[in-house]
Amino acid sequence: MKMDLPINATTQSAPHKTRLTDGFGRNVTYLRVSVTDRCDFRCTYCMSENMTFLPKRDVLSFEELSEIVGRFIQRGVTKVRLTGGEPLVRRDIMALIARLSKYLDGGQLKELTLTTNGSQLARYASQLVDNGVRRVNVSLDTLEEDKFARITRRGRLKQVLAGIDAADAAGLNIKINMVAMRGFNDMEIEPMMVWAHGRGFDLTLIEEMPLGEVSGNRSGSFLPLREVHDQLAGKYRLEKIEHKTGGPARFVRIGETGGRLGFITPMSHIFCESCNRVRLTCTGRLYLCLGKENNLDLREPLRQKGLAGLDEALDKAMILKPQGHDFDHSRKHPALDRHMSVTGG
Ligand code: 5AD
Ligand code: SF4
Repeated sequence: MKMDLPINATTQSAPHKTRLTDGFGRNVTYLRVSVTDRCDFRCTYCMSENMTFLPKRDVLSFEELSEIVGRFIQRGVTKVRLTGGEPLVRRDIMALIARLSKYLDGGQLKELTLTTNGSQLARYASQLVDNGVRRVNVSLDTLEEDKFARITRRGRLKQVLAGIDAADAAGLNIKINMVAMRGFNDMEIEPMMVWAHGRGFDLTLIEEMPLGEVSGNRSGSFLPLREVHDQLAGKYRLEKIEHKTGGPARFVRIGETGGRLGFITPMSHIFCESCNRVRLTCTGRLYLCLGKENNLDLREPLRQKGLAGLDEALDKAMILKPQGHDFDHSRKHPALDRHMSVTGG
């Protein structure tokens, strides 16, 4: 007998363990879960000042979330990343992390990690380690206090730096994610790299993506990372390395600092061929591509038919996964209405 049948599961279907493979032969091994769309910050490129968040009643319970994630793991997912919004602002989040960490103990799940803005890390870092989390991505776009306050609208740099210190002290591997914006932090990329590498952290630069309506025009601040790469190459030795994190970043090692620098270039580089991921929202909607609307609901099938319903929906999802995306910054409107905080980066 399976140990993981939900109370409301129907018995007619033997739980099957077919791997999740999409119509283009890509195996889905990486699940990103946005556990909440809420955040204590309002980064200008991510949210508008006045966000309307999802009503709490629409949000999946931890039981439902872990049931869904568990099914993904049985069907071949080996890496789970919790995102948001800010995952650590969801009430009692450590209870969910503790549940998921059981799959690490069992060995089916190779990595449980999260992307965080760092504001709650001082409080949670050691509990994360206790639950098997080995590394975290921390979003940090500037090391200047006033600019940090401006870009996050309500964040405090000191708090985030204290969180990073706590995570470091607890033994977590840290990767800093920095969204590169022309005219805002382009001059800070090199200092950020020197700081991060000096502390033993990887740094990944991200091109800004046109997700969700925000105030201000994004095409003005869009900075192609090719440009950044070439500028740095004039001053540093950029050695190509084959470092893979299961994500779309391409990494170089900087000869002078010994640290790793990643580039995520969704806008100017097509990396869809090797896409191994899908994204689950906190309401149970599964998005098959960050840059496309293709999605389907897992909550109702699970509630109505238990694991059998979930499996059926996952099979359907594999047919829906598109071959790739096509962001275009010259468009006036966002490519998608959905904010990053809904699907979680
Ligand atoms: N474009 C690029 N990156 C974004 N993030 C949030 N919104 C956007 C966007 N429009 C980043 C955050 C964080 C990660 C989850 O996604 O800074 O690092
Ligand atoms: Fe919050 Fe991250 Fe969005 Fe900033 S980018 S508002 S920290 S979810």
